Amino acid sequence: MSKLIIANFKMNGTKSSIEEWFNTFSREANTSNEVIVAIPSPFLINFADNGIRVAAQNVSPYVSGAYTSQVSAEMLKDCGIEYSIIGHSESREFLKETDEDIFNKYNQLIKYSIKPVICIGEPLKIREDNLLQSFISSQLKYFEDLENELIIAYEPIWAIGSGLIPTVEDINEVSELIRGICKNVRILYGGSVNKENASNLLNNSNIDGVLVGGASLNPKEFANIAQSC
Ligand code: 13P
Repeated sequence: MSKLIIANFKMNGTKSSIEEWFNTFSREANTSNEVIVAIPSPFLINFADNGIRVAAQNVSPYVSGAYTSQVSAEMLKDCGIEYSIIGHSESREFLKETDEDIFNKYNQLIKYSIKPVICIGEPLKIREDNLLQSFISSQLKYFEDLENELIIAYEPIWAIGSGLIPTVEDINEVSELIRGICKNVRILYGGSVNKENASNLLNNSNIDGVLVGGASLNPKEFANIAQSC
């Protein structure tokens, strides 16, 4: 089965640099894996229709109204967007999002047939204190036993942008835990994925894809990652 390879540009890029990125990536990449690129929201409408799937990086938990700065699921749908990241640790931290907010975002996306990519993952202290299982279970409490196919990205906070990466055994342990809680799930790993480690992760662990931050900004490196399995 093909893997899901997602780029998360975070708050990087301009209209012209993203256009150049898509041109280079299309030239370089030759893969049957599913590729999705999460770009900053001002550019979604420019690139929704460019032949490579584009995702939003967040969505409002509300329908519409007096929520200055927010973008609704209906607006994303109207721009032709089919996927959105939700619950990224950077949104949880900087925008103070709770698990309940994230479930409300999920419901908004489902209402408009946009596929949520739900991010979870623990801070280092939780892992050191042996609280990993209860932490992950609690982040997934709203998603237990849902019938819909879920996409869950396991991104340990300590591995994001740090160059540190869990072992394949560690990833498999969390992946088993997630599969025990969610019925129908595709699991991605994210955190310091690059062209050197992608092949080992994708070929040797029990995951269905990767979510790539920093290394995705280079279209040749991301093409390399997308082709590594
Ligand atoms: P890095 O790949 O830069 O560690 O970021 C991971 C991430 O947060 C993807 O959503």
